[in-house]
Amino acid sequence: MSKFLVTGGAGFIGSHIVEHILSEGQAVIVLDNFSSGKETNLSFVNESQISSKQYCLIKDDIRDYEACLKACSGVDYVLHQAALRSVPKSMNNPYEYNEVNIGGTLNMLRAAQQCNVKRFIFASSSSIYGMTDKFPERETDYPLLISPYALTKLTGEFYCRIFSENFNLETVALRYFNVFGPRQAPDDEYAAVIPKFICCILKDICPPIFGNGKQSRDFTFVKDVVQANLLAAKIPDISGKVFNIASGSDNSIVELVAILNQLAGKSLQPEFLPERAGDVFKTLADISNSKKSLGFKPKFDFKQGLSLTYDWFCADQSRCR
Ligand SMILES: NC(=O)c1ccc[n+]([C@@H]2O[C@H](COP(=O)([O-])OP(=O)(O)OC[C@H]3O[C@@H](n4cnc5c(N)ncnc54)[C@H](O)[C@@H]3O)[C@@H](O)[C@H]2O)c1
Repeated sequence: MSKFLVTGGAGFIGSHIVEHILSEGQAVIVLDNFSSGKETNLSFVNESQISSKQYCLIKDDIRDYEACLKACSGVDYVLHQAALRSVPKSMNNPYEYNEVNIGGTLNMLRAAQQCNVKRFIFASSSSIYGMTDKFPERETDYPLLISPYALTKLTGEFYCRIFSENFNLETVALRYFNVFGPRQAPDDEYAAVIPKFICCILKDICPPIFGNGKQSRDFTFVKDVVQANLLAAKIPDISGKVFNIASGSDNSIVELVAILNQLAGKSLQPEFLPERAGDVFKTLADISNSKKSLGFKPKFDFKQGLSLTYDWFCADQSRCR
């Protein structure tokens, strides 16, 4: 039985990774300070009566090196998801993003190296490509990043490579593209667009679109991101590398509203607002490298993922509060 440490395991993506690892009978430690993570995201742990040998929750902060060291002890694989994740918020608060996303990642890398972890997987982001006009986006493209958040992710990737090349710690960075699915938080000013719009549609509110709505995203279903993490942990000879993790196709924001209206049997019109600083016009990944080197294969197309996510929010509309 392998032992995984999932930082940010009480968050949206982290909790899906934890659920999958437990379902495979492997052991997992969660390290989370619950700044955006929620106890309810981990409710499956109590529901399935997992033993304390298989699961342990550490409520602590990755800015505290001793806490990182304690969490890494006896661990085989670190799947590092903990971070502050909003692009627009990072424009107003770059110092905190630096401390958590760069300082915290460096703490985790050092702790993983000290504890002889077999491999460290880093949750990076498509925001690194920034204002590019070259599509699809390739891992080798020059990063035209435009937000402090993206800079923290690029720095994390370089730290990973340095640890892989010079500090004897295997690392892999995964650039996630616009992840969505059940448990994604709809409830703050900077919420990701899909849970926010699902909640608008359920409450008969016109979804607010920043810009003309023609901006598009390579929306990636969360279970495909889980698959990528587990492949990245185990496939040999990929240390120091960076991979795009995405669906490989894009959909516009107006298309998103149309599909949600279809799913709900409604016809709500979007409300168009001025563009937001730090938002890019398009994301679209080339996933040929991750297919070839990781054996990654997205299993959920946009409509399938959206329908599963919509059903999850419909099942308990208090999730929209
Ligand atoms: N959701 C996306 O579309 C997306 C896209 C690209 C990259 N990512 C990256 O994936 C990872 C997970 O994102 P998510 O969407 O699940 O976000 P999330 O906010 O749901 O999860 C982040 C988790 O990290 C925890 N955390 C934050 N600061 C911490 C700290 N100082 N110490 C310990 N825990 C801390 C939070 O409490 C939360 O549980 C992040 O690294 C994010 O940057 C997400």
